[in-house]
Amino acid sequence: MENIQKKGTVKFFSGKKIPLEMHKVRIVQSLNLVPVERRLEAIKEGGYNTFLLETKDIFLDMLTDSGTNAMSDQQISKMFVADDAYAGSKSFTKFKTAVADVFGKDMILPVHQGRAAENIISQTFVKKGSFLPMNYHFTTTLAHIQLNGGTVVELYTKEAMKIKSTNPFKGNMDIPRLEELIVSKGPENIPFIRMEASTNLIGGQPFSMENYKEVRKIADKYKINIVLDASLIGENAYFIKKREEAYFDKSLGDILREMCGLADIVYFSARKVSSSRGGGICTNNMDLYYKMRDLVPLYEGFLTYGGISIREIEAMTVGLYETLEEDVVGQSPSFIEYAVNELDKLGIPVVMPGGALGCHVEAQQFIPQVPQSEYPAGALVAAFYIISGIRGMERGTLSSIRDENGNDILAELELMRLAFPRRVFTLSQTEYVIDRLNWLYNNRELVGGLTFVEEPPVLRFFTGRLAPVSDWPEKLVAKFRADFGDSL
Ligand code: F0G
Repeated sequence: MENIQKKGTVKFFSGKKIPLEMHKVRIVQSLNLVPVERRLEAIKEGGYNTFLLETKDIFLDMLTDSGTNAMSDQQISKMFVADDAYAGSKSFTKFKTAVADVFGKDMILPVHQGRAAENIISQTFVKKGSFLPMNYHFTTTLAHIQLNGGTVVELYTKEAMKIKSTNPFKGNMDIPRLEELIVSKGPENIPFIRMEASTNLIGGQPFSMENYKEVRKIADKYKINIVLDASLIGENAYFIKKREEAYFDKSLGDILREMCGLADIVYFSARKVSSSRGGGICTNNMDLYYKMRDLVPLYEGFLTYGGISIREIEAMTVGLYETLEEDVVGQSPSFIEYAVNELDKLGIPVVMPGGALGCHVEAQQFIPQVPQSEYPAGALVAAFYIISGIRGMERGTLSSIRDENGNDILAELELMRLAFPRRVFTLSQTEYVIDRLNWLYNNRELVGGLTFVEEPPVLRFFTGRLAPVSDWPEKLVAKFRADFGDSL
């Protein structure tokens, strides 16, 4: 399917620089904004962990874009024509064709979500003594690689950790360090190099095609495979088109196929890439395919449904084709860019330039009084929920792990992520986000830290429970009431 080309964005006569939605809303879900006092109770009940909040207490759910992007009418309609055969389903054949059309890969193993792909890839290729170079880790990737005895080596550039930057490609890999690592550890101990599109944990920041081609050259030199995490590939391709001169005139389809062509294995979470459920691992290499194949029926389901409903496979197929459309893929980045620029004007520390997935507020600059040992990003997320009803996600030390001595491994970045799921929020809701963040920034001295009261050993941020180190949440609520009167 060919990409629908648009010549630039729509300009307003007034000169206002605001994003314009290229869709209309036809199905809606009501929202609820409970009073600030109830929000304080709700966060206490949830152990100061926004994963443990319930929808009834949430106004804007900006936890994630995973499985929360709006589906199109085309996606929903196709769900009703699904062929739910256990084996050999027609719906799977359509999905396989879509993967070949959009990613240029002929063999596809369906899985129930992205981390299931990580499980299969890690079990197949990672063993004790393996080193896995990557531009940056994702939480579930790290967990699966470690479970199989491997060591993750992050080879990002210095620019990646700069909060306010003008570098368009903060997700690039440090090429000299990649070669050094391969030489020092030996190529035989490196099962693959992992590149993550729109690198999630550093603020949804893309890599450039130029950098990625350099990674390929090194991979070829030492005969190492490249695994591409394509969960946010549409956005990375969109940024390449917008920010890398050699690609200004290329279609998203061309860029996507080139990106996938440079990788030996491409895997994705369809919860992100095609705004549905599911995921997949694809390749053109028969040998790699057979090495992984038999784990799919073991962990997921038969090879033509991979543990998800066939209806979702139909939606995933349409979603893959929609990834070729700039209006679809660019919607979330354009809202993020708008929010990031407005927040920056207010002096609020926010990851710049705007990336994919969400707007990322830097907690150490926002609340410098909270030490990293008291989880500043977690505290900021809790405080922001209390004063706005908006649910964000902690992406900092709380989402990290402890070392063998039980000490927190401090995160390089302490981020509060406010996700902008695709085609979900309006501009006035975005203005509300900016307004409440501005208020919190003006009252930032009131925010204190958090400490764990229940801490699971693996992926602790999902279900861990915390408590504030003082009565700062009550003080915050009192100030909110003083400033806003009876406003919600
Ligand atoms: N890789 C990346 C880059 C991701 O962002 C995610 C999920 C996964 C793999 C795992 O996929 O959730 O389908 O199992 N990211 C979500 C998030 C959870 O909120 O950022 P999954």
